[in-house]
Amino acid sequence: MSADETLLQLLADGRFHSGEQLAQHLGVSRAAVWKRIEGLRALGLEVQAVSGKGYRLARALELLQTERVREELGCDDCARLRLECLYEVDSTSDYLLRLLRSGERGEVAVVAERQLAGRGRRGRSWVSPFGANLYLSLLSHFTAGPAALMGLSLVAGVAVVRAIEALGAAGAGLKWPNDVMWQGRKMGGILLDVSGEANGPSHVVTGVGLNVAMPRDAAEGIDQPWVDIKEAGGQTGRNRIAGRVLAELCEAMQRFQQDGLAPFLAEWNQRDSLAGREVVLSSEQGAVTGIARGVDGQGFLRLETAGGVKTFSYGELSLRPLDAN
Ligand code: BTN
Repeated sequence: MSADETLLQLLADGRFHSGEQLAQHLGVSRAAVWKRIEGLRALGLEVQAVSGKGYRLARALELLQTERVREELGCDDCARLRLECLYEVDSTSDYLLRLLRSGERGEVAVVAERQLAGRGRRGRSWVSPFGANLYLSLLSHFTAGPAALMGLSLVAGVAVVRAIEALGAAGAGLKWPNDVMWQGRKMGGILLDVSGEANGPSHVVTGVGLNVAMPRDAAEGIDQPWVDIKEAGGQTGRNRIAGRVLAELCEAMQRFQQDGLAPFLAEWNQRDSLAGREVVLSSEQGAVTGIARGVDGQGFLRLETAGGVKTFSYGELSLRPLDAN
C-alpha cells in the first residue's frame, strides 16, 4: 500500500488526526505529511486543517475493501470470483482487458476508487472522481461465440437496476440499450467489451459506472442530465453497492449462459423508461423519429415510425426522448 493510501485510511473516519500522529504512522516528517495532504486535496477531497487539532476529511469516506464487498456478495455463482479493489487505474475495463490478453480465463471483478481514463459508450469519457461513485468491471467467459451474446448488455442493465432497487432507490429504469435512468436523468451506464472466436468461446468485460454521491464540481464535465443514488434515496455505502451489483451481475450472466435473453425480456420492457414515448434515434447516418415500442427477442430496439415498426441493432446509436431536444 502506498503512503497516500495509508494516509487516506487514517483520515477516512472523518475525525481529527494530528500532524505528529500521522507523521509517526507514515514514518515521514510533518512537512512530508503536509505535502501528502495537498495531494489528497488535488484528488478533489476536502481536507480541513485546524491548528492544535490537525487534519480531518470534511466528510468521512468509505474506502473500497475486498472483504467488505465480498460480505455483500452472498451468491453461489460469485464463490469462484476473484475480486480486486484498486486505488486508481486508467479504466477498470482496460485493466481486465489486459488481464484477458495475458491469458486470464477465470472470472475476475475489479473496482477502483478512481479512473484516470474511464471510458463511456461512443468514444466518450466517463467522469470518475475519487471515492465518490462506483467504477466496476467484471470479466466473464461464455461457451458460445460473440454473435450469440447479442442481448447480454440488456441483461446487464436489468441486473444493475435490480441491484439499485435492492439498495433502496425505487423507480430506476433503463434506456436502450443500457443506460440506467431515474426520472429522466442518467444514473449510470454500462459498456461491454466482447471478444472471442466465431464458434466460441467468447470473453466479455462488463463495465458499470454508477453515480453514487457525485461531487458537484466533478459533474461539470457531464453533458447530460444526471442523478446519483444519494439523490434518488438509496444507500450510498460503496462496498455494499459494489457487492450488490456484482451479485446481480453474476447471477444474471449465469442465467443468460443457460437460457439467453428470453427470461429477461419482459422485465427489460417493463423497466423501459421511454416506452410509448416519441423518441429520436440518431447515428452518423442521420436520425429517425418514432414511438419507442420496447425491444424484440434479440434485444433490438422497436420503433413505430410513419413507415411501420422498424427494429434497430446496437452500435453507435443514441436515443433521446423527442421533447428533450
Ligand atoms: C456509458 O457511456 O453509458 C457507459 C459508461 C461505462 C463506464 C464504466 S465505469 C467502469 C468501467 N470502466 C470504464 O472505463 N468504463 C466502464
